[in-house]
Amino acid sequence: MKKLFLVANWKSNKTNAEAKSWLKEITNYELRITNKEIIICPPFTLLSGMKALIEKKKLLFKLGAQNLSPFDAGAYTGEINAKQIKEFADYVIIGHSERRNNFGETEEILSEKAKKAMAVDLTPIYCIQNETTPVPKGVILVAYEPPTAIGTGNPDTPENAERVAKIVKEKYPHIASIFYGGSVTQDNIRSFVEMAHISGVLVGGASLDVLKFTALIKNA
Ligand code: PGA
Repeated sequence: MKKLFLVANWKSNKTNAEAKSWLKEITNYELRITNKEIIICPPFTLLSGMKALIEKKKLLFKLGAQNLSPFDAGAYTGEINAKQIKEFADYVIIGHSERRNNFGETEEILSEKAKKAMAVDLTPIYCIQNETTPVPKGVILVAYEPPTAIGTGNPDTPENAERVAKIVKEKYPHIASIFYGGSVTQDNIRSFVEMAHISGVLVGGASLDVLKFTALIKNA
C-alpha cells in the first residue's frame, strides 16, 4: 500500500481561536491514519499555537507553511524566512498558483525559495500548473494543480492528472511523490489517489471544515 499525503491548504483563513476549535473538534473523530501523512498548512500566525496544541494532544498531524522568503534573515520587511518556519513546521508549499498569479512569483524566485527551504531541511511541496512547469533541482514532492480546478468545483479528471503526473515523473526521476490539487472533495479523492502516479492531494476549501476533512481522510 502506498503512503498517501493529505495536505490541507488553509490559505488566508482562520484566526487563532478558530484554529484551536478546529483542532479540538477533530480530536472527537477516530482517524485511521496509518500510511497517511496529514500536513496542515495554516497561515504563519497560527503555526506556533497549532504546534503547541498538536504536541499537547499528541495528534499525528504535521505542519507546513504556505510560503517563505527567498532571502535569509535580514532587512526584508514583512518576510518570514526558512529558518523561522523550520522552528514550527516540516513542510512548505512553494509556487501555488495564487502566489504566481497574485504576487508575481516567477520561476526564478520560486527556485530560490525552494533552495532556501531545503537548506534548513524544510521540505518543499512544489506546485506546478501543468506538465511544462519546471521543477527545481532537489525537490521531491510536487503538486499538480491546474489553475482552472482551484476553488472552482471543477476538478481535473483523474485520468488527465495521472497523465501529467506520469510525464513529470519521467522528466524528473528524483521526484518521490506527486499530488493532485484542485476541487478535491470527499467524493472524488479516491479516484485521484488510486491512480498509479498520484500519491496524495492538496485540499483547500474542503480542509477548512472538520466534517468534510475527516470524511476526506476516511475516503482516501
Ligand atoms: P481547492 O484549493 O481545494 O479549494 O480547490 C486547492 C488548492 O488551492 O490548493
